[in-house]
Amino acid sequence: MSGKFPSMDNRMALVVTLAVATVLFGLFMALPIRQKGGSDVQKSGLREFPATLSSEDLFHKACTQCHSLPTLNQKSPEQWRLLVLKMNRYMAQMGYRSLSSAQVGHIVDYVLGHQKPS
Ligand code: HEC
Repeated sequence: MSGKFPSMDNRMALVVTLAVATVLFGLFMALPIRQKGGSDVQKSGLREFPATLSSEDLFHKACTQCHSLPTLNQKSPEQWRLLVLKMNRYMAQMGYRSLSSAQVGHIVDYVLGHQKPS
């Protein structure tokens, strides 16, 4: 017997330590797993947007999942297409609702028709 806890020998201390560790580990494992943002995919189980959405609705719904509605600065049609494709890749990778290739086309057309005049 030595130290500050004369009533607890080494073996007892080990048992107590293991018991505490086990309880804490159990609590940790019981924590609900949370995904960033709680996207629509988790809420609705849907992976894609309904094909019936208008281009405008699609643009508003799809493009505000991660950031505010982007400003439609002048870009070439090809630049916009590549950007929307990149955003669609982010959506799929990050577990957000993503776009069919037809919907990518609808958004690009919408954006090109609504760019800010330069
Ligand atoms: C899954 C999340 C996510 C969604 C949904 C999303 N974006 Fe983004 N967006 C990002 C991230 C992350 C960045 C910054 C990194 C980058 O530019 O690649 C960004 C940056 C941007 C930028 C600025 C960068 C640049 O090159 O001009 C624009 C514009 C943009 N997004 C437009 C859109 C449009 C349009 C949509 C809808 C089709 C959209 N975003 C949907 C994640 C997203």
